[in-house]
Amino acid sequence: RLLIVDFGSQVTKLIARRVRESGVYSEVHPYNKVDAGFLASFNPKAVILSGGPASVADAGSPRADAGIFDLGVPVLGICYGQQTMAAQLGGAVEKSDEQEFGRAYLEKTGSSPLFEGLTDREQVWMSHGDRVSKMPKDFEIIAKSPNAPLAAIADEARRFYGVQFHPEVVHTENGARILRNFTHEIAGFDGDWTMAAFKGEMIQAIKDQVGDGKVICGLSGGVDSSVAAVLIHEAIGDQLTCVYVDTGMMRMGESAQVTALFRDHYDINLIHVDASDEFLGLLAGVSDPERKRKIIGGTFIDIFEREAKKVGGAKFLAQGTLYPDVIESVSFDGGPSVTIKSHHNVGGLPERMDLKLVEPLRELFKDEVRALGRELGLHDDFVGRHPFPGPGLAIRCPGEITKSRLDILREADAVYLDQIRKHGLYDDIWQAFAVLLPVQTVGVMGDSRTYDFVLALRAVTSTDGMTADYYPYSHEFLGETATRIINEVRGVNRVVYDVTSKPPGTIEWE
Ligand code: XMP
Repeated sequence: RLLIVDFGSQVTKLIARRVRESGVYSEVHPYNKVDAGFLASFNPKAVILSGGPASVADAGSPRADAGIFDLGVPVLGICYGQQTMAAQLGGAVEKSDEQEFGRAYLEKTGSSPLFEGLTDREQVWMSHGDRVSKMPKDFEIIAKSPNAPLAAIADEARRFYGVQFHPEVVHTENGARILRNFTHEIAGFDGDWTMAAFKGEMIQAIKDQVGDGKVICGLSGGVDSSVAAVLIHEAIGDQLTCVYVDTGMMRMGESAQVTALFRDHYDINLIHVDASDEFLGLLAGVSDPERKRKIIGGTFIDIFEREAKKVGGAKFLAQGTLYPDVIESVSFDGGPSVTIKSHHNVGGLPERMDLKLVEPLRELFKDEVRALGRELGLHDDFVGRHPFPGPGLAIRCPGEITKSRLDILREADAVYLDQIRKHGLYDDIWQAFAVLLPVQTVGVMGDSRTYDFVLALRAVTSTDGMTADYYPYSHEFLGETATRIINEVRGVNRVVYDVTSKPPGTIEWE
């Protein structure tokens, strides 16, 4: 296995992800935990030293344990990792006048196996202030860039490599190939490690964490909490109880699907609470988006807590937290940030109920969670589902929410999604949904005047939900969909398409 020594870079987990993708098992450990004893028990076949925010030139900045360089295994230092390796092996690092951030072009200056298969000029992503100014003994330059004459250095005999740029980010076009060269060609991994093996390791880790304790898990019907629940169930069976709170803000058929899948198919202990009347009652007369979110979030937690207490003696709360959620929740400068929308989750609950968190997906990215879901037997259609917000249809019904408006929206949304699936567009779109506006307009159907609601359609492409573009449907598709919705759904007589990207719009309307 491969050891990734973490010096605190925002993108260290991306190294792990790329390494996983090439079929190699790796673990990330903070630099200050990696000492002689750790190295002896971990016994790595290769080591990667990550980037980090510190400056090697400053006194007291982090160092890699010196024992790493005596293991006789290949070592790849990235950015800060390159600099500390150079400094520790007798070279020097200086604060550079020309800081390099962003795109740069790398020129190979030799034929190192690290750059096997790359062209002579490669786009790479730089992000650093310092740079190696003097190479350690026996190192040579294997690539340079305009502002970094020592952009990549190597001691081929000892298989030590250092790169100033970040091969783990997508902006380094052939970054995955470089890491693969390191793991496969240089370190000799065969790349036969798979998601199935990962699943086995995660199951073992869950067993080790919870022992014979009871775990409760809030199911939302979304991909993340579902995959977490099925995985945990595979690990500890009946020690797991899932709670599904039907807020009445779910899409067509969703509650029935959740029950069928988890209770009937997977045989998981499931508490299904129909709280739709309670939610509708509390939301009556409320049209401010933030108040809606607060009411739904607060009520959800109260109900969840009430139900979870019935389980009795639960020690753990399971959540489908993904790695991007972990990154996003860590503020870069620790400063206050503006709340655009208060997100709905079970925050605060673990402390109140004295529960420890089980978050088996914390290391994974969305597409890896989907792959894991498939590995656990979840259907492709299910794991490929678009994201759905915790407050559900409530934030797609601007203005006051009533049962009848929710029903119209649910029906229209189902027709819209059916159209998208029929046209084979579902997987090209990050998220698609309908929004029922609190506006009525005049229309004519047959010989009669109508006075019904306006429905807005939304569809966006995105990689992480942080930024988004509207989806470029054909006019034919839009026309056909509008006709179907108006013909099939009573209460809608006009359909419009939202062509706002994010920013400046957000994906949801509230
Ligand atoms: P916005 O509307 O902020 O949404 O552009 C970005 C992504 O987050 C989803 N979203 C939520 N997800 N709880 C969630 O679990 C929420 O309260 C929530 N609000 C928005 C939204 O659907 C999109 O995918």
